[in-house]
Amino acid sequence: MERGRVTMDRNADAPWSKFDPEVYVDNNYRTPLEVDLLIVRLMRDYFTRCFEGSPARSARGIDVGAGANLYPALSMLPWCEKLLLLEYARPNVEYLEKQVAPAGYDIAWDPFWDVLREAPAYAAVEPRPLVADIVRVERGNLFDLEGGDRRWSLGTMFFVADSMSEAPEEFHRGVRCFMNALGEGAPFAAAFMKESVGYRVGAHDYPAYRVNEETVGQSLEPFTQELEIHDLHHSVRPGHEGMLLALGRRNSAIAAP
Ligand SMILES: C[S@@+](CC[C@H](N)C(=O)[O-])C[C@H]1O[C@@H](n2cnc3c(N)ncnc32)[C@H](O)[C@@H]1O
Repeated sequence: MERGRVTMDRNADAPWSKFDPEVYVDNNYRTPLEVDLLIVRLMRDYFTRCFEGSPARSARGIDVGAGANLYPALSMLPWCEKLLLLEYARPNVEYLEKQVAPAGYDIAWDPFWDVLREAPAYAAVEPRPLVADIVRVERGNLFDLEGGDRRWSLGTMFFVADSMSEAPEEFHRGVRCFMNALGEGAPFAAAFMKESVGYRVGAHDYPAYRVNEETVGQSLEPFTQELEIHDLHHSVRPGHEGMLLALGRRNSAIAAP
């Protein structure tokens, strides 16, 4: 530990209003990485299994901390009648609003859709008009989901609970808020950077809490009736050790604070 350093970067301290979505997309998604395409494939197949035999487009979906990433939303698209992108940083909210406008989302997301549409349920939908029709963007704080009575029947949270604060209790609170926003039986996908020490977007540094498969499992288990954690050993940049993808369904427990 740094001598004399007594504080940790908490969620409220990070420069979210300076978050640059275009730089973030350039850094992470403009050239699709194998690991993201693998995640998309795993999510596609998991959701397909979960919704087998369900009425078409019946779920209400949410992507929490959507930021400048459209692939979690695209992965939920064929199953949803409505889909909410909840995001705190204003520049990311503006980015997302452009993606859901009638003009259609950026071509940067096409390689992800190409993987999704290998499965019949995805091939059956026209993604751009459907995104413009059913996806809504809301500026909000993940922590405010706690105690609310809004519930979703399908959810994703990608690189958020672990990538918003250095404080362990904020990581656990982030996971709890996400899981408590899901109704009983709701399928979910959540992704985490493994052992991340923080990340830089343009000229600004953002905090992270170091997690591994055990930490993620412990935080999710009280809320799940079915859980698989995929440890994907691809390092995207120095400062972390790969990615973890958790797939599961929400159980019926009232989760304790
Ligand atoms: C590392 S980025 C991940 C973005 C995107 N989900 C992805 O997969 O690339 C972390 C995201 O969490 C958002 N965020 C940070 N604090 C938040 C909060 N309290 N409530 C909701 N979103 C938050 C940030 O604005 C940012 O978009």
